[in-house]
Amino acid sequence: MNSFRVTPWEVEGSVDYEKLIKEFGTQPLTEDLKKKFVDLAGEDHVLLRRNVFFSHRDLDKVLDDCFSSKGFFLYTGRGPSGRMHIGHIIPFVFTKWLQDVFGVNVYIEITDDEKYVYKRDAKWNQIQEYAYDNILDIVAVGFNPDKTFIFKDSEYIKHLYPLALKVSKHINFSLAKAVFGFNNITNIGLIFYPSLQIVPTFFEKKRCLIPAAIDQDPYWRIQRDIAERFGYYKAAAIHSIFLPPLTGLRDKMSSSKPETAIFLNEDYETIKRKVMKYAFSGGQPTVEMHRKLGGNPDVDVSYQWLYMFFEEDDKKLEELREKYKKGDLLTGELKQYLIDKIWEFLEEHQKNKDKARRKVEKFMYDGKLSKRMWDLEFEDVFSE
Ligand code: TYM
Repeated sequence: MNSFRVTPWEVEGSVDYEKLIKEFGTQPLTEDLKKKFVDLAGEDHVLLRRNVFFSHRDLDKVLDDCFSSKGFFLYTGRGPSGRMHIGHIIPFVFTKWLQDVFGVNVYIEITDDEKYVYKRDAKWNQIQEYAYDNILDIVAVGFNPDKTFIFKDSEYIKHLYPLALKVSKHINFSLAKAVFGFNNITNIGLIFYPSLQIVPTFFEKKRCLIPAAIDQDPYWRIQRDIAERFGYYKAAAIHSIFLPPLTGLRDKMSSSKPETAIFLNEDYETIKRKVMKYAFSGGQPTVEMHRKLGGNPDVDVSYQWLYMFFEEDDKKLEELREKYKKGDLLTGELKQYLIDKIWEFLEEHQKNKDKARRKVEKFMYDGKLSKRMWDLEFEDVFSE
């Protein structure tokens, strides 16, 4: 039997996403809903078309709120435990697209606190370095500075803490254990942390839509239990599957296993070496056999990466699939195709990241609250 486990901190085993929808109690993103969404957006996105985003909570209600001009806002985040890899950037690319097509505010939480308490050997200074580097990667995605607020928990805490306190008071340990798998050796920093990931869903008195991989959903489940008691909306979410590790279709990419991922700061030679060496192939062991029997794109990681993100052109993708299946396209050729696509994306990203250094203040809390799309004072939180 295939067993797997998905929590916000760990993914083990080969994930069965249909089962996960049932286990987490989310809804499948149906073709019908997708069509409504795309119609409203006025354009399609490769991550929707290829079912990378496959599940949701209350996305239909977000659409209703758009129709009735109530509007909504977007929220997503990053835990700075290391350099970002290609998987991490996916929700940000999608969030940026949503911001462009719907013209809405985006809040991005950088959870230095979470990573500090979660990782036993974490060094605070190291996490701060990663946080800055990750923020540059996020800014490089191209968000609208007038409608985007990036905040780091340890810096913005004064403004998060009142609501976090209130949230924490509504979550008992038994629920937190059931939802997050905490146990007697979990440190109490991590036990409190979920309140801080829930707070930004209350930044505006509108529905909050959260694009992220499905591992983050447990937070939203709790948020949805308590939100209405606070006079806020239940959070809506749109969930993606994980971009699989280079080494095979199981698990999740991991920063601690560099061979599983391509990092956003890697150069062409490194990408080439990693893909050629590690990308799990659905091809045959010899060229002769491959020409004769053909490859299997469904288990081939290079094909899957092209399918999920890197080849937007449907016709080209279909052509690659057919040629690979027939054995006309060899594994090395498919890998080279992917390498060029990854580099096309990363070369551009790295240029934008260089420029991001000069732009970053426009997105962040400056300690004086002059960046103030939202600001809730203690009195407001406790007055209700
Ligand atoms: P973190 O830093 O683990 O992950 C950042 C974002 O990347 C998604 N993700 C992936 N997506 C596709 N393929 C993958 N292989 C892959 N690996 C990770 C994650 O789901 C996440 O969206 N606790 C959070 C930080 C956070 C947050 C949020 C995330 C705070 N508030 C609101 C999403 C929404 C974290 O450590 O994410």
